[in-house]
Amino acid sequence: MDKKTLKDVRKSFLSYFAKNDHKIVDSSNLVPNNDPTLLFTNSGMVQFKNVFTGLEKRDYKRATTSQKCVRAGGKHNDLENVGYTPIHHTFFEMLGNFSFGDYFKDVAIELAWNLITKEFGIPKDKLSVSVFSEDKEAFNLWKKIAGLSENKIYKISTSDNFWSMGDLGPCGPCSEIFYDHGDHLKGGPPGSKDQTGNRFIEIWNLVFMQFEQIAKEERINLPKPSVDTGMGLERISALLQGTHDNYETDHFKTLIKVSSELTKTKITKDNIASHRVISDHLRASVFLIAEGVLPSNEGRGYVLRRIMRRGMRHSHTLGSKEPIFYKIVPTLIHEMSDSYPELIRAEPLITEILKTEEEKFSILLARGMRILNDNLTKVKNNLLPGDLAFKLYDTYGFPLDLTQDILKNKKMNVDVSGFDKAMAERKKTTKLAWKGSGDEAVDKIWFYLREKIGGTEFLGYEHNQSEGVVLSLIKKGKEVQEINEGDEADLVANQTPFYGESGGQVGDTGYISNSKSNFQVIDTQKKLGDLYVHR
Ligand code: SER
Repeated sequence: MDKKTLKDVRKSFLSYFAKNDHKIVDSSNLVPNNDPTLLFTNSGMVQFKNVFTGLEKRDYKRATTSQKCVRAGGKHNDLENVGYTPIHHTFFEMLGNFSFGDYFKDVAIELAWNLITKEFGIPKDKLSVSVFSEDKEAFNLWKKIAGLSENKIYKISTSDNFWSMGDLGPCGPCSEIFYDHGDHLKGGPPGSKDQTGNRFIEIWNLVFMQFEQIAKEERINLPKPSVDTGMGLERISALLQGTHDNYETDHFKTLIKVSSELTKTKITKDNIASHRVISDHLRASVFLIAEGVLPSNEGRGYVLRRIMRRGMRHSHTLGSKEPIFYKIVPTLIHEMSDSYPELIRAEPLITEILKTEEEKFSILLARGMRILNDNLTKVKNNLLPGDLAFKLYDTYGFPLDLTQDILKNKKMNVDVSGFDKAMAERKKTTKLAWKGSGDEAVDKIWFYLREKIGGTEFLGYEHNQSEGVVLSLIKKGKEVQEINEGDEADLVANQTPFYGESGGQVGDTGYISNSKSNFQVIDTQKKLGDLYVHR
């Protein structure tokens, strides 16, 4: 077999399909511009979704791509496996070839088989395939084209062999190609009860796109049968480098070497998961920020924040006191910018965002970890109470999956229903008025202000005094331009060190002043999650 670097494999794949009359098309963005139902591009076919359904026409019928993908939310979500298996990533590249009403099953199988056995030189006796149980045609084609014996073609009846992008969209039966990494690894062939082991690894998925799911129970035929295939670049590179472990490839070894240097830790079997998480989560974060996704408390930005914080927690676990993520960026960009020049353009932004988030979060993390550790002795049945997980979320910015990841090593979990209950409770109370007012008109002002000016940046973990810009003054539930001596009013600023009352803790008191006036703060309330109102 050829020993190829990750870059070589990407190049060989694309040129093989170019030689076979496929147009090399650039990867589309991770934030799909053609589908509001998808959080992130999760496979190569997403950019061609409307070509499959006939809504969009292109001037080619065959295409090939190396597509940036993120699977960390939505239908295809691998986040919790990352770091603990050799083959899962939040960000990865999917190599694919596509036929838009041109060739179908026979040519797809032939092209795939020739690439892996002839071009890549993978021994045939290590390969097996699965087909959708009803797809007799594919079964026979594998026998005929690849010469595979029947016991190497597994018929699978589950959704494992019927691929769909999301709840709606193009879909069809699929056929997966597996490589047997040898009996030194645990795991059985596809369809067996120990199929989840690492011995038989799926390397390529050929989807025979035939249908479009247009509603939950309604599926129609596509205008023409088509093909969508997907092969994880990291997996096939591992195989071609003689390992079953993606994190043992040239690319990941380079990143992990830097994280080991920066955290001043030798790689051991006890800390390897942390290094893997750091390398993986760094890649996802860098590619998302390069597209302008920024950490926030909602939507895509929140998924990014979860990935970043999960990764940053692992660098903290390795003992690193300083932010390290941004320091690995130059190595990653050096590795990837040939194919993704957008990384070079975005480098200053990426560096800034990673550094700031890691600085901010490390303070919260240290405090949150103390609270968590202090409470672990009280845990019963290995289940952390949901309200404690919620406190970590609400006060210390620990996304739920971060707390779950911390507990994983201790063989504990979170009482998720208790967490959800605490969250629902919080949503209810944030909708309530200023304590005791009971006046709906008064409540509305907070929604209006939250919309108008956004939330307040809370600085109180690091400072008990700071500067801020006054964004709004409120008197008797109405926004006003000025307040006078003796008035009782509320003041909202862009940032504040005042702790706002929420969940039973008392709000801070103090003074807000400038050269002309002095505002005595008798109470601070946190409204709608992040609007800090000083009374
Ligand atoms: N869409 C299929 C997959 O993601 C093949 O590309 O597996």
